[in-house]
Amino acid sequence: MAETFFITTAIDYTNGAPHIGHAYEKVLADVLARYHRLKGDDVFFLTGVDQHGQKVQQSAEKQGIAPQEFVDGITAKFVALWKKLGVEYDGWAATTDAKHKDCVRAILQRLWDDQGADGQSKWIYKKSEGGYYSVRQEQFLTDKERGADGEFGPEWQPVEFREEENFYFRLLDHKQWLLNLIDARSAAGKPLVIPDFRVGELRNAVEKLEGDLCISRPAARLQWGIPFPESFGAGFVTYVWFDALVNYISFAPGYDPAPTRPPEEFLRWWRTIVHVIGKDIMIPAHGVYWPIMLKSLGFTNDEIPTLLVHGWWNISGAKMSKSLGNVIDPDVLADKYGAEAVRYYLVSDIATGKDADFSEERLIQRYNTDLANSLGNLLNRTLNMVAKYLGGRLVGRPNIEDVSFAPVEGSESRTYEVRPNLEFYLIEYRTAFDTAQVNEALWIIIMKMALAMNLCVEKCAPWKLAKDPSKKRDLDSVLYTLAEYLRIIAILLSPVLPKAAHGIFDQLNWKTELSGKEERFRLADTIWGGLPDGHQLGQPTPLFPRIEAPAS
Ligand code: MSP
Repeated sequence: MAETFFITTAIDYTNGAPHIGHAYEKVLADVLARYHRLKGDDVFFLTGVDQHGQKVQQSAEKQGIAPQEFVDGITAKFVALWKKLGVEYDGWAATTDAKHKDCVRAILQRLWDDQGADGQSKWIYKKSEGGYYSVRQEQFLTDKERGADGEFGPEWQPVEFREEENFYFRLLDHKQWLLNLIDARSAAGKPLVIPDFRVGELRNAVEKLEGDLCISRPAARLQWGIPFPESFGAGFVTYVWFDALVNYISFAPGYDPAPTRPPEEFLRWWRTIVHVIGKDIMIPAHGVYWPIMLKSLGFTNDEIPTLLVHGWWNISGAKMSKSLGNVIDPDVLADKYGAEAVRYYLVSDIATGKDADFSEERLIQRYNTDLANSLGNLLNRTLNMVAKYLGGRLVGRPNIEDVSFAPVEGSESRTYEVRPNLEFYLIEYRTAFDTAQVNEALWIIIMKMALAMNLCVEKCAPWKLAKDPSKKRDLDSVLYTLAEYLRIIAILLSPVLPKAAHGIFDQLNWKTELSGKEERFRLADTIWGGLPDGHQLGQPTPLFPRIEAPAS
């Protein structure tokens, strides 16, 4: 049976249109999902939108429409963008969906009913707490909101002291458990967080944990949320994180909150889960609340998900923000440069886990250098040379052991053997993907494989070989190698650039008809010798037309 792979993303707030940060995360997850499909895994890719909360309620009020109407409008923008960018998910998590709301309420009820010897819930308790409340901003304030003079500034006024009753989820009781879990996972070589430089950050945050989590809001203050079950008493709405995090199970295949252990059908997927999230939501939500919530629901230590934490796209070193007016709209970019150019840039110009600076010039530069010049040119010249010297038909199918290129006279004299390099590239590619380093995988394809083949063209100079009848076998062998390498490159590139990969296969006139459920791209097909002797290639057409930089 195929292995499963379950991948999720953060669900985006629907209080504003999608920006380039949202697009990056979804493209990254899509690329990883496609890589696993390429390996033959059974993949479930879940993404969606986080539709509740105060901000949505306020934005809807400002526009004079109902919150549901407001979130439906924004949600449609996200859905359309993912379609445009080729983000192909298997499950869509929208938190106003009845299925999700039922699951959140069932979970709350279950934890409320799970009682200790004292007849009280082991997980949730009610408490009254007092604090300063900004009537203007409709939120409780902490000392962080005080100005240098120790007072709350005019943006918060009027401020009043309020007592409020709420429900709390116990975190502190599980602090040591979480610390042990983090350490055990690292010791076992399966760190809770990838890249593992963030494990220490999480550990420190858990060490400093001081309080439990307030999981309710009085309905008087927040209406746009999931109401607590009646058994908690009337008038409470679920705090947004206790709602949003649950999407990972409420929309997962086969989850049922009722039994004390999650169902096996669900666990088959869950055991391989990776949560892709941004660095801002690791602490405390995904690294503290979520593991403890899962523990409360009967998940074992082995079933606490791994977090794949990515960095941020910034603008000239600064955070993207509406107030700075520097928010980049991925929809506009895709219309201007094409969806695949945007996909390529977003996963090639950032190291997974690190931050990067977004720049349109870089997008154009990377596309022109890597795709138009290096890969596009290789495809084009290969097809043209095969057409010109072999009438478009490959001759022979050399054993990879026999393929080595003696450079033509006058150029550097180093024999280039194809086999060891190809094997090495394929291992490197898999390693890069298995550690989510998509930029590394692309580097191998473009800067190693395509570059090696472009150098091969320069050094072997097929146009010279073609003039010498005694070099006919070398000519055939060089041209076969170029075409065969392109076939393999297309497969390797397909998770990032599916359309371009199809384009390369089309031009190679390869797998144009598929039988039954056959996949066009399979990692298992990266074995040398796929193209048969006598294979007729297709017509060359520019796959990556150069982008002309706008005149500045
Ligand atoms: N709704 C919560 C997540 C709930 S998950 C159970 C949320 N939404 S968000 O819209 O603010 O952010 C969604 C994701 O986008 C987060 O993972 C966040 O890190 C990511 N990004 C937001 N801005 C970003 C950049 N500038 N760059 C890269 N990713 C960024 O948080």
